[in-house]
Amino acid sequence: METRIIDGRKVAEQIKAEVTEELQELSKKNLVPGLAAVLVGDDPGSQLYVRMKARTSKELGMHSEAIELPGETTTEELLQVIDRLNQADEIDAILVQLPLPDHIDEDQILLAVRPDKDVDGFHPLNVRNLVTGKVGLAPCTPLGIMYLLKSEGIELKGLEAVVVGRSNIVGKPMAFLLLHQHATVTLCHSRTRDLPAVCRRADILVAAVGQPALITRDYLKEGVVVIDVGINRVESVEEGVRLFGKNSKRIGRIEERGYTLVGDVHPRDPLGVAKAVTPVPFGVGPLTIAHLMKSTVMACRLRKR
Ligand code: GUN
Repeated sequence: METRIIDGRKVAEQIKAEVTEELQELSKKNLVPGLAAVLVGDDPGSQLYVRMKARTSKELGMHSEAIELPGETTTEELLQVIDRLNQADEIDAILVQLPLPDHIDEDQILLAVRPDKDVDGFHPLNVRNLVTGKVGLAPCTPLGIMYLLKSEGIELKGLEAVVVGRSNIVGKPMAFLLLHQHATVTLCHSRTRDLPAVCRRADILVAAVGQPALITRDYLKEGVVVIDVGINRVESVEEGVRLFGKNSKRIGRIEERGYTLVGDVHPRDPLGVAKAVTPVPFGVGPLTIAHLMKSTVMACRLRKR
């Protein structure tokens, strides 16, 4: 079987083109959606994500704020920032980048974000809407994956979907979104008994477990569509050769940069077995930020309609 490699960048561009059209429509009503992305601390990965989120929203013509606070910021101080954003009329969507430093009470912070500005869908009211299948704000990575599956023309009704990983950001919301589209969903994780056998049931396999190249040939049914959410670093040349082969350009990347990225799915094993697979990088990654833009527009519409 020939395996299609799905280019997440193209799908992200499609989402952003839709957002551009929606922004033009909103501008006729003098509405400009606004996104505030809040970061506490100086983790380089999180800094990069927050700046990319702010830059993308600005490029599309939205109001955008990236708020970077020092690592010593207290829960009280962060609550004050959220309170200001909750009240700011130009802000429709608030995103607090996770993980927060250990000394901050994450639950208290996520509860403080106004539900109608909670673009990540972490507030209990939004979680309820997700679980009960109502329209509302939900985590952007699973929403981006649903968009991708639709744009691939995959009819989910009656399919077996297996989600590996039970995080609040990806695994659990993913399972509900698939369920609402009438897939038969199995939500499993690293401690599931005979995980390969469970995964072999899948017509759609979503891997979001944070274990490099966990999903190997043994986990895949012929014709499965594989969605790889993992982003893991491979720093040793030996491991790189094992995963990518000794002639891969990735080996050069490890030697030059000190690492290359691998997903939760083995990079070569799905080829020839799966119907389609998202690569790492440039698969699911670009969809999250693109869908954040779409959700920001949705937050604006829901609040100001
Ligand atoms: N950290 C990693 N992914 C996410 C996300 O989707 N939202 C937030 N707020 N933090 C994250």
